[in-house]
Amino acid sequence: MRRSETTAPLAHLLTALAALYVAEPRDGGLAAAAALREAADGPLPAPCNVPAPLAAGLAQVLTGADASLAAAIRAALPWIVWELSRHDGRICDEYALHMMTAEILGPDGILHHDNLRVGLFLQSGGLAYPTRAHAAEETFIMLAGQGLWQAGDGPALLHGAGVLIHHPGMVPHSSTTLPGQPLLAAWRWSGDIGFDSYLLTG
Ligand SMILES: [Fe+2]
Repeated sequence: MRRSETTAPLAHLLTALAALYVAEPRDGGLAAAAALREAADGPLPAPCNVPAPLAAGLAQVLTGADASLAAAIRAALPWIVWELSRHDGRICDEYALHMMTAEILGPDGILHHDNLRVGLFLQSGGLAYPTRAHAAEETFIMLAGQGLWQAGDGPALLHGAGVLIHHPGMVPHSSTTLPGQPLLAAWRWSGDIGFDSYLLTG
């Protein structure tokens, strides 16, 4: 399909995210990739130009990202609706003011999908996002920056760009950033993608 110039940046970002998730060796990753590609070929909304609440942190972390990916994200920013990561009040301001999430595809996304969620996540530097758990199966793909990720009984591991971080449903997990070093990641949820089960456990 010939893509209108007016929505080409969003289609390009969807395609870039699909290319990342198609490399995940799980059904959920392949389903996310297929849904992103399908969305890229379908009707796309006009840009909504909602300012990102943590725009400075995003600009900082993108300077260290892969150049083509950073360009794709910057070009699509007029479409991306970032929100502080409050998760309907489950996360208090101590943490929520320093993290932002954008659901790109999903029940609450700028593009609708009933059965999965795909988005972007930024965690500011020097923040220990407490241990949490949720029913959805989840895979983060680190896009830029680095962070310590811990899940279940495993050790905390420092992960940078390109690393896939998978959490089966209800496995407690946490992420901690180093001072002055935000992280940017893509994320996807599949399975039970409701927020009812979302709990901070640590
Ligand atoms: Fe999670």
